[in-house]
Amino acid sequence: MKRKIGNSDLEVNSIGLGCMGLSAFYGKPVEESEGISLTHEAIERGVDHFDTAEMYGPHTNETLLGKALNRRRDKVVLATKFGIVAPAHTGSKGALDGSAKNCRRAVEGSLKRLQTDHIDLYYLHRLDPDTPIEETVGAMAELVKEGKVRAIGLSEVSADTLRRAAKIHPIAAVQSEYSIFTRAIENTLFPALEDLNTSLVAYSPLGRGMLAGAYQGGKRPAADDWRSLSLPRFEGENFDANRMLAAEVIALAGQKGVSASQMALAWVLAQSDRVVTIPGTTKLANLEANLGAYDVNLTTEDLEHLAPLAEQVAGTRYSDFGMKLVDA
Ligand code: ATR
Repeated sequence: MKRKIGNSDLEVNSIGLGCMGLSAFYGKPVEESEGISLTHEAIERGVDHFDTAEMYGPHTNETLLGKALNRRRDKVVLATKFGIVAPAHTGSKGALDGSAKNCRRAVEGSLKRLQTDHIDLYYLHRLDPDTPIEETVGAMAELVKEGKVRAIGLSEVSADTLRRAAKIHPIAAVQSEYSIFTRAIENTLFPALEDLNTSLVAYSPLGRGMLAGAYQGGKRPAADDWRSLSLPRFEGENFDANRMLAAEVIALAGQKGVSASQMALAWVLAQSDRVVTIPGTTKLANLEANLGAYDVNLTTEDLEHLAPLAEQVAGTRYSDFGMKLVDA
């Protein structure tokens, strides 16, 4: 269950915790005490890879993790990201800022909020089209030299960007959305990951809840949840179509005597030893269920059954604005 993160000296259990939903995007943030307690319970159960970002909240998710991990820091690989800036900080630059100056500003804030002197895995959150990737990675490499960062990652980048970046400094991980429902990177990014010994950190492996069966039986994300407000896969007819597809995953999982979330996570991990994943949850029961994925073995028939689903998913994974931020 341990997997190395690319060419770095980091090693993690392959199911980590994506912490975003504790503080942002998926409805009301959890109470701080609840978030801290979930984090501690996760560590007790062997979760050792926690993923956050400057822009989750903004800031509140890092602050929460800082409080949760301060006496457990040496037990975990802590990952955060910079490069998406709040409108107030953007000046003329827009939503993305991968400049060396912003990298330096951001890391100091993240270290403070995370109550640590080093970040294990530091990502550029989205490629800034106005800053050459060489400048961004050059600035991140300085942080490695200074001991503030142990390994460098990039999120949602193309193979071309990854190859350019890797000429400046080894890139330990690319973080991208990857699941039974979202597989485009297999043809585009995977060969570069292989060539450069870079890991994939798969986010939204549960299709933001859909593949865990969270929206069967007429349930929907709340009206103020970002999924309802802005994600095409959760809109109107798309939502109903995607829920029907998820029902196929749920049915197959049922036949195997496992849960849909376990099946979805086992699927992600079965694609390559290069993949680790960070499902998000705010609930201990769901976290425990998800860790059950380690015991699920998928057969060739299972994989064949699931293979056509991604192409049938209705709707892009982000709004038009969000898709523009993705480097494809
Ligand atoms: P992200 O990476 O964006 O967090 P994800 O991991 O694909 O996306 O899915 C996260 C969503 O799946 C969350 O809304 C989470 O809801 P809870 O906070 O209520 O758990 C949901 N989820 C995670 N594990 C689940 C499970 N075992 N059963 C049902 N829903 C689950």
